[in-house]
Amino acid sequence: MHVKNLLSILLVLGSVSCKNILIFNPIFGLSHVKFISKMANIIADHGHNVTLFQPFHIALKNTEGLIKNKYIEIINYYPDHYDELLKTETATFPAFWDSHLMNNPVLSAFMIPKAIAGEFERTATQLLKDKVALDDLKSRNFDVIISETFELTGMYIAHMLNVPCIPVWSAVRFTIFNNIFGQPSSLGYSQQPFSKLAPEAGFIDRLNDVYRNFFFTITMDGMGQYQNDFIEKAVGRPLPYWKDLIKEAPVYFTNSNEYLDFAVPTTATIVHIGGFTMDLEKMKHVDPLPDKYAKILEERESTVLISFGSVIRSYQMPDNFKAGIIKMFESLPDVTFIWKYERDDVEFQKKLPKNVHLKKWVPQHSLLADNRVKLFVTHGGLGSTMEVAYTGKPALMVPIFGDQPENANMLARHGGAISYDKFELADGEKLAITIRDMVRNPKYNKNAQELLKVLSHQPIDPKLNLMKHLEFAMEFPNLRSQVPAINQMGLIAHYYLDVIFFLSLIFILTVYLTFKIISLLPIRIVKSKID
Ligand SMILES: *[C@@H]1O[C@H](CO)[C@@H](O)[C@H](O)[C@H]1NC(C)=O
Repeated sequence: MHVKNLLSILLVLGSVSCKNILIFNPIFGLSHVKFISKMANIIADHGHNVTLFQPFHIALKNTEGLIKNKYIEIINYYPDHYDELLKTETATFPAFWDSHLMNNPVLSAFMIPKAIAGEFERTATQLLKDKVALDDLKSRNFDVIISETFELTGMYIAHMLNVPCIPVWSAVRFTIFNNIFGQPSSLGYSQQPFSKLAPEAGFIDRLNDVYRNFFFTITMDGMGQYQNDFIEKAVGRPLPYWKDLIKEAPVYFTNSNEYLDFAVPTTATIVHIGGFTMDLEKMKHVDPLPDKYAKILEERESTVLISFGSVIRSYQMPDNFKAGIIKMFESLPDVTFIWKYERDDVEFQKKLPKNVHLKKWVPQHSLLADNRVKLFVTHGGLGSTMEVAYTGKPALMVPIFGDQPENANMLARHGGAISYDKFELADGEKLAITIRDMVRNPKYNKNAQELLKVLSHQPIDPKLNLMKHLEFAMEFPNLRSQVPAINQMGLIAHYYLDVIFFLSLIFILTVYLTFKIISLLPIRIVKSKID
């Protein structure tokens, strides 16, 4: 570690000076916290002074050990109501499993902003009013602040401290932010839930694309506005509009990987660093499997790992989904299943056939690295999606909510994965047929391995991409030359609708006049022939 650090420092010092960087890490969703923490490690590994500022919005567990670089200074900001947070049970969102309403784009647009951004309000308000904490940050003279565009307090603190801010985003894309940096509409380029992608897409798909995109934009707009409002209230004076603040940055980092993602038009300002959390060398040397897992893998030729991640819980799955899954287990007695199931449930265990092992915790890295695990059934959080892609493992993606449907479609496009409708978990027969095919048909493994090979050979390492662009951005914090102004001009100018209308009019007029003239001509010709 030490030698590696020193080496990186020497390498970096050759061209770039060490900077003093504040990374804002709001403690809220684990996937966000993991993303920011990994970014902090890498930036510190490259020799910069990194301070991690962590305001607690919830009392999140499982965050220990995320910060690996021991030079990172961590400032935990516990709000006055932290004891209350400790007593609150971690939300597990059982309604996301099968409520059609929870995933409804129209309803989301009205509910999500308050439901999510509302969670930030108390801690953020206290922090924004906390002169001691802000003065302390000010006195540390940061060169730059890195903050995700999800929880916006960090961006506003950067503004108040007069320090440039670099926005990052832990998902593949949220078009509302990409558009701020000049990306044209990605309609038809990336696949919306329940839509097909070109060339299969038809009118209904395109209609669905517009519908979902429209309400999703309203949802994200609402999230930004909600925070903008309570931040202004806390500070007690007008502050810049949230989009204008984000817009000031010379780069915007997103967790998309160009070789995994859809082929989407973009601008140079949007830097895709997806995959920077993966370490191919390390993945080749995973921890050996604990004995009891080694034994499980010996039971049958094929093993399937099932995990729906850490936010929603398998034990809260609706009974008809569970029944479908049990039916699938029974139909595939020659396959062993390891299911991440967060509860000791003797009654439930009794209903299961012998080929199933419920485990509260699974060594996911080591299992995915083992050839005897033929398939990963996952919810398709971006962390798991990346891990599947970088281990070359076939996956049955069963997206539950949020960005998971898009991740599922994104991975399925490469042919090593299938996106499976969660409501069809209830259909045990279909589930069994799908899983049997994925375990037996070598094409899934072949395609997944092919993707791994592509990712291993990508021309620019995502970590390098992150560091080079970060250092470039710190050098030119006000550079705006790579952001086009055209998409600020409204739909008519952006899509040249006025010109299209004008030219169409000319065309129609010309056709009309030509016909008018021709319709007069033949009479004369006919007439002259008769004469
Ligand atoms: C980074 O930290 C070291 C050790 O605390 C300090 O000597 C150095 O001046 C810092 N560099 C910057 C750019 O703040």
